Amino acid sequence: MLSMIFVFFIAVLLMFKYYRRNKNYWKKRGVFQVDIATFQSIKKNGFIGETYKDIYEKYPEEPYFGILGIFGSSPTLLLRDLRDIHAVLETNFDCFNCHGIVTNPSEVLADNLLFIKDYRRWKLIRQKLLPTFTNAQMRDMFQYVEKRVHDFIDNVHENKGIKENPFKALNAFSGSVVGASLFGLDDVSHNSDDSPINSMIWDILSPSYRKELVMYVSYGYPKLFRLFNLNYFHRYNEYFVNIIKSVLKRRRRQETIIRQDFISTALEIQKSGIMKDSSTGYELKLTDEILAAQAFIFLLGGVNNLSVVTHFTFLELASNKNILEKLHEEIDSVFRKCNEKITFDDIEKFVYLDMILCEVLRKYPPIPSIGRNCTADTTLPSTQKRVSKDTKIIIPIYALQRDKTYFPEPDKFDPERFNNENKPKIVKYSYMPFGQGNRKCIGMKFARLLLKFSLAWILRSFTLKEQKYDPKNFDPSLVVLKDVSARFELIPRK
Ligand code: HEM
Repeated sequence: MLSMIFVFFIAVLLMFKYYRRNKNYWKKRGVFQVDIATFQSIKKNGFIGETYKDIYEKYPEEPYFGILGIFGSSPTLLLRDLRDIHAVLETNFDCFNCHGIVTNPSEVLADNLLFIKDYRRWKLIRQKLLPTFTNAQMRDMFQYVEKRVHDFIDNVHENKGIKENPFKALNAFSGSVVGASLFGLDDVSHNSDDSPINSMIWDILSPSYRKELVMYVSYGYPKLFRLFNLNYFHRYNEYFVNIIKSVLKRRRRQETIIRQDFISTALEIQKSGIMKDSSTGYELKLTDEILAAQAFIFLLGGVNNLSVVTHFTFLELASNKNILEKLHEEIDSVFRKCNEKITFDDIEKFVYLDMILCEVLRKYPPIPSIGRNCTADTTLPSTQKRVSKDTKIIIPIYALQRDKTYFPEPDKFDPERFNNENKPKIVKYSYMPFGQGNRKCIGMKFARLLLKFSLAWILRSFTLKEQKYDPKNFDPSLVVLKDVSARFELIPRK
């Protein structure tokens, strides 16, 4: 007990010392600093995207803002100048090539594309996995998507859980779609929220004090994170690795390729031996564990983002009768022309649906900000001031996409912003729901296809009960708990 008190005392002392040294970190460097108290008080009022938006709007003359965590930890620059964003994401990628998420080597599932810090390792794995999302592979995966969409439509007809918690039902639907199409997880990811995979995803995505603490320590105090061997995914590490191992084992036994998906891509890579990147010379053996980690982030990122986008699409359509009617006309017309059976190649015919999705992704980006870590001392083009190695960078996607300079009347839901005439006028880097540059979302094309395909089928069978949705306090990344009052209602079409 005494030793615990001693350790606690030393920790507080060190933090205090650290705070005294760091509290004016940005001021000393001539950067506009949002002081810690202001930042914390704004933060309490909303979700993190809204906090960044408040800062962004409050000081319009600043190209970027310096922020510090509690006790002056994690010097961070919040960018607003598009020239700097362009440099960080593309032209100066060498100095900003990772997200800077700290991990412990013992946590197998954290060795995934999103979390990998080592540039060479990330590049090699990403390069090799890209074929998962070629048109030919996606075309094959779509037969499994179609089955899941029909299951969902049946569930809504029978009202299986959809009225009680529509968002949870969407999560289960997205889980089953991604699980089945990418990994052939037909048995453990069926279309209901009590399937083992869906329960896992729901548990991981639901907020808890433990998760907040882990995130806080990992962001502010990476050394402590490593020292205490903290982890993000807890008991699911072994569980999920075993699921993917058994899928791989089953597929290895089959003599011919029966499905073109992530698993078939993975087996092909494994068969060809050690992977090598000819430009860096980096070599890696693609083990089942590394594969499970990639599958895991595909599942987690995919499911949450897809359900968030579907959720807000329904809420906005329920609020905008004219837009909903116009969309129904397009969907009915395409279905009629295709004899009620749309295929992968018909998806591009849903032009208006595409505009609606672009607008949902603008107004409610599921990932409201993206981060980068500075990997070598450099400068930013707007001021030419020095940015030191290990500085964290935040690109406030949500704030940019709601900036009236780029999107007049930003709170209005207006798909016409993305029609053929207006879309080319959108200023580059003011709109990037999937990120931009080398590290942009690897599943972007797949996500857009899945969304269009499933929305088209669902809205061929159902319409939405009219209701006004006027979000005041919501969190697009965690609709789960923050805004449960916002419920859409699907009603069968006559
Ligand atoms: C509407 C759906 C989706 C949205 C809005 C979205 C958005 C994003 C964003 C903003 C990033 C960060 C990009 C950056 O840092 O520059 C990202 C990364 C990523 N996304 Fe998505 N995503 C979606 C769906 C998916 C799906 C379906 C998958 C997998 C099948 C996926 C897999 C990933 C992975 C693996 C990364 C990390 C890429 C890397 O660091 O190399 N996402 N996504």
